[in-house]
Amino acid sequence: MEKIILFIILMLGFIQCNNNPPELPESITIIPHPSEITQHSGIFILNAKTRISCNFELESIALQLVNLLKPATGFDIEIIEPTRKKNVIALSLDKNLSELGKEGYKLEVKNDRIGIVAYTESGIFYGIQTLRQLLPFQIESTSCYGKDIKWEIPCVSITDNPRFKWRGLMIDCSRTFWSKEFLKKIIRLMALYKMNILHLHLTDDQGWRIEINKYPELTQKGARFPEKWGEPEGRDGFYTQEDIKEVVSYAAKHNISVVPEIEMPGHTLAALVCYPELSCTGKSFEIHPFLKGPHIHKDIFCAGNEKTFEFLENVLSEVFVLFPSKFIHIGGDEAPKICWKACEKCQSRMKAEGLKDEEELQSWFIKKIEKFVTNNGKILIGWDEIMEGGLSKTATVMYWRGKFKDIPLAATSHGNHIIMCPTTHCYFDYNYKTISTIKAYEFEPIPDGFIQEQTELILGAQACFWSHIDRTEDKAERMLFPRLFSIAEVTWSPKEKRDTTHFKERVNSQLKRIKKLGIHYYPDSTVISN
Ligand code: ACM
Ligand code: ZN
Repeated sequence: MEKIILFIILMLGFIQCNNNPPELPESITIIPHPSEITQHSGIFILNAKTRISCNFELESIALQLVNLLKPATGFDIEIIEPTRKKNVIALSLDKNLSELGKEGYKLEVKNDRIGIVAYTESGIFYGIQTLRQLLPFQIESTSCYGKDIKWEIPCVSITDNPRFKWRGLMIDCSRTFWSKEFLKKIIRLMALYKMNILHLHLTDDQGWRIEINKYPELTQKGARFPEKWGEPEGRDGFYTQEDIKEVVSYAAKHNISVVPEIEMPGHTLAALVCYPELSCTGKSFEIHPFLKGPHIHKDIFCAGNEKTFEFLENVLSEVFVLFPSKFIHIGGDEAPKICWKACEKCQSRMKAEGLKDEEELQSWFIKKIEKFVTNNGKILIGWDEIMEGGLSKTATVMYWRGKFKDIPLAATSHGNHIIMCPTTHCYFDYNYKTISTIKAYEFEPIPDGFIQEQTELILGAQACFWSHIDRTEDKAERMLFPRLFSIAEVTWSPKEKRDTTHFKERVNSQLKRIKKLGIHYYPDSTVISN
């Protein structure tokens, strides 16, 4: 009888866990490279009897770890109070670890115990991501391996914290609308590689993608390509405010802050389609896909019309509520001044404010918006054109025009914070011939010759993914991977830990992991070995 019961139990286990072929355990291939890592002899083996221990304050993050380990292992690991000494993954906070910063952690893997300790929950979160990368890549599988894999974790001591605060990725949601499920997938990937800022480019000439209650036309009309363009299904659309809240809260659980971008004064055709009276000419407009018309529209918000500011302040007021981020991006790039030059209202504004040219009018526009942003407790970010015509002391500059090499020095010498995403290394809509994974890996966010004071003003760097052309999710993933590994490591790891040969090895290992996660990647020959 006992034998029959045992047989039934084994069969149930067999049905539950599909029989994937065993694969070799990996060596240590963490991305981004930790600040300090020492490997010891021995391994910890995760098994059905392993427990996760923590105090009440870390229970939700412990639950995330349980859910992470469950699908591939089949183990439903119990969370217990921190009493057990053996076969345990112990999560704990330590107030004495403030020198590790908010995102740092220590991870100790011994034969019989794993400890992750940090100053804050974010640090624990990142310790877990590292632990995840120490496990065989099959841990990412959604189906259970049963007894086919030994869940071995090499014994290590790791002390780790980020080089930069800003480890970002920008996604252009205007030229192509990305589903919230896709954004969540990207968030999960970013978190695994310790990236912490998702910058959403929500408005542009080709579409307004965020619901604003006060101005429903923005998404009724400004989020749709007219039928005549024959755009593929799903390329347009918008996020409801509920969608935004869902994405922001999902991101927060992954230690990611979502930074919204509302473009002004240029790249605003989608808004002007709905409210032509906010343009200099007041004529009617139509949205068109990027490749079907002028790439940059000359019609922009009228700087001489008070209604423009009333509109923008009302929009931003709703945006402030939806995004807890301290930073709000207002675009500011590529605003042609042709309309302002020919507009009576803009010209009389210049006269009234004593502005000598349209560059100064742009600067006046941005400073006026910045005042509103600051009064609402937020920090304004703008693309580097916000420096033209005079930069305020408190705005943060996003450096993108890589050909203008003196911008970082000019911005930081003026005392402004800066985020580095030059076209030369960080524009991941460019093909791999132009920016290979290795080229992105060679990016150094701190320019040569920067002194300490200037260096401290560099918040970090980010990859930018513009979606004029790359319109399917699979293609987008291929544009991001493997290059996102480069930016993840450039922004997190100490500069002296960067090593191209070792990085290539780690990329090849991580590609197996992201493949298991259902991510497409580009076979970039600068890193992929076969
Ligand atoms: C930009 O690429 N226009 C910021
Ligand atoms: Zn005007």
